[in-house]
Amino acid sequence: MAGLLAALATRIQAGFDTVAPGADPVLRPSGQAGADFQANGALPLAKRTGQAPAEIAAKVVAAADLEGVATAEVHPKGFINLTVEPAFLVAQLAAAAADPRLGVDVVDDPWTIVVDYSAPNVAKELHAGHVRTTIVGDALCRLAGFAGHHVIRENHIGDWGTPFGMLIEHLIDMGEEVGARELSVGDLDGFYRQARAAFDASDELKDRARRRVVLLQSGDPETLRLWRILVDESMRYFSEVYRRLGVLLTPEDVVGESFYNDMLPGVVNELESLGLLVDSEGARCVFPPGFTGRDGEPLPLIVQKSDGGYGYATTDLAAIRDRFGRLGADRALYVVGAPQRQHFSMCFAVGREAGWIPEGAEAVHVAIGNMLGPDGKIFRSRAGEAVKLIELVDEAVARASAAVLAKNPSLGDAESTAVAQAVGVGALKYADLSTDRAREYVFDWDRMLAFEGNTAPYLQYAVVRIRSIFRRGGIDPSSFGAGRVPVSVDEPAERALAQRLLAFGSAIASALETWSPHKLCTYLFELAGEFTSFFENCPVLRAPSQEVRDSRLELCAHTAAVLAQGLELLGIDAPERM
Ligand code: ARG
Repeated sequence: MAGLLAALATRIQAGFDTVAPGADPVLRPSGQAGADFQANGALPLAKRTGQAPAEIAAKVVAAADLEGVATAEVHPKGFINLTVEPAFLVAQLAAAAADPRLGVDVVDDPWTIVVDYSAPNVAKELHAGHVRTTIVGDALCRLAGFAGHHVIRENHIGDWGTPFGMLIEHLIDMGEEVGARELSVGDLDGFYRQARAAFDASDELKDRARRRVVLLQSGDPETLRLWRILVDESMRYFSEVYRRLGVLLTPEDVVGESFYNDMLPGVVNELESLGLLVDSEGARCVFPPGFTGRDGEPLPLIVQKSDGGYGYATTDLAAIRDRFGRLGADRALYVVGAPQRQHFSMCFAVGREAGWIPEGAEAVHVAIGNMLGPDGKIFRSRAGEAVKLIELVDEAVARASAAVLAKNPSLGDAESTAVAQAVGVGALKYADLSTDRAREYVFDWDRMLAFEGNTAPYLQYAVVRIRSIFRRGGIDPSSFGAGRVPVSVDEPAERALAQRLLAFGSAIASALETWSPHKLCTYLFELAGEFTSFFENCPVLRAPSQEVRDSRLELCAHTAAVLAQGLELLGIDAPERM
């Protein structure tokens, strides 16, 4: 909780303490006319104590510290409706503006949070399917870090397994240098496709590939050297995509599947000694309770195949053990597509059974819905191929460049290039982030690049408009927005804007509660809307007095600061001009 809400909660808490010490007041912005806040804590307390909710609420109001509170009414159902004194609101606002964190509290109990996101596969294209996991995961890292958690990013790249036999042999056949170049410039799919075609066409190559996998598994130095080329050149390309997208991931964050390879026998042994392993048709499996197939048969999680090999699930079990064990994670987030839901549910269930996920800690599949094309099917290029992420970035920037030029032809070349980059990348990211992450979302260039609606360009433009108020008035913006200029909230639009500014911390907290960046997007969009009605109703530069003008300029600067900070937490730049 933060800002006004936190201050108010402390006061109402005094009332709750007399009924039941430490009871949560469950304070929320009311979202209804006639009340600023609602304290709903009497309801759960009524259940616990058997008293009537309204009775408890009345006791709370009688005993609470109501300084700064204008009205406190008990609803017959037991809610307490609160309005606050303008002076209280304004004091909170000044404190938030003066705070470099804009009134957003650091969490009381910081967690260690491991965030597994992006996770492309070596020698395979980063395609549209990785767009959302990369962007949502990155925003969650930024949000959690800002809230004060200790964030560990992990890029669980697919860099191990049987396809590497084929890929290494293909690299040898085409020549190391040529192959490396092809990968580093991003023709990953081309490389993979050729390897596959050659493999399918030749029994001799199939044989070599099989032998190569054995060499790889046994740690043959020359094979590992060739394998490294594949990994490093692919990573070089992935890093370039991350840089263009403004994503935090670096090569240091890579903890790929290969990292767990040596741990896999240990994982299987531990499951064995815990009595969790069952032989099923030659494979070694765990049957976590509660998972059944269509026919009602228990579903196995295969940890060792009949040929002795390990699979994707075994690696994920090792990762669970490593994240909660070695890294001491309180939360491990898996920002991965929704189709992998069952895989993760089963792995987490086994992780708990094995005791690898300690009491109080939690593994969370932050499921990401599919990205759909305009036809409602999985997003693909016109030729029906998976779309490369880098091509989406290029196109977003090209389209933004045209839009920016049309809007403001007076920007110089260098500036308009930078603005187009910010707007294009921002639009691409925001379109993704503003949709509930679990839902499928339809990719639509025109909608995401529109200057109206819940889009990045709209919010970026809102910041630019506010900044231009200062420019037009010849006013030094640096003297505003730091909480030093007195603010009045007499006009309803001023009051509504002030309220919303103070809800920044709760918006961040609620986004983190369900790992849903779209909640912050909704907040920023509403804040921008609140600002628009303030600006339409309350003249700033032509305010009736110097005092009122300054008060409004202070609100303008505070709004710009919150919008820019909010966008930054989503990984989106706010340009000076557009
Ligand atoms: N490499 C996988 C893919 O492209 C995603 C890995 C996700 N993370 C994990 N721990 N399994 O589908």
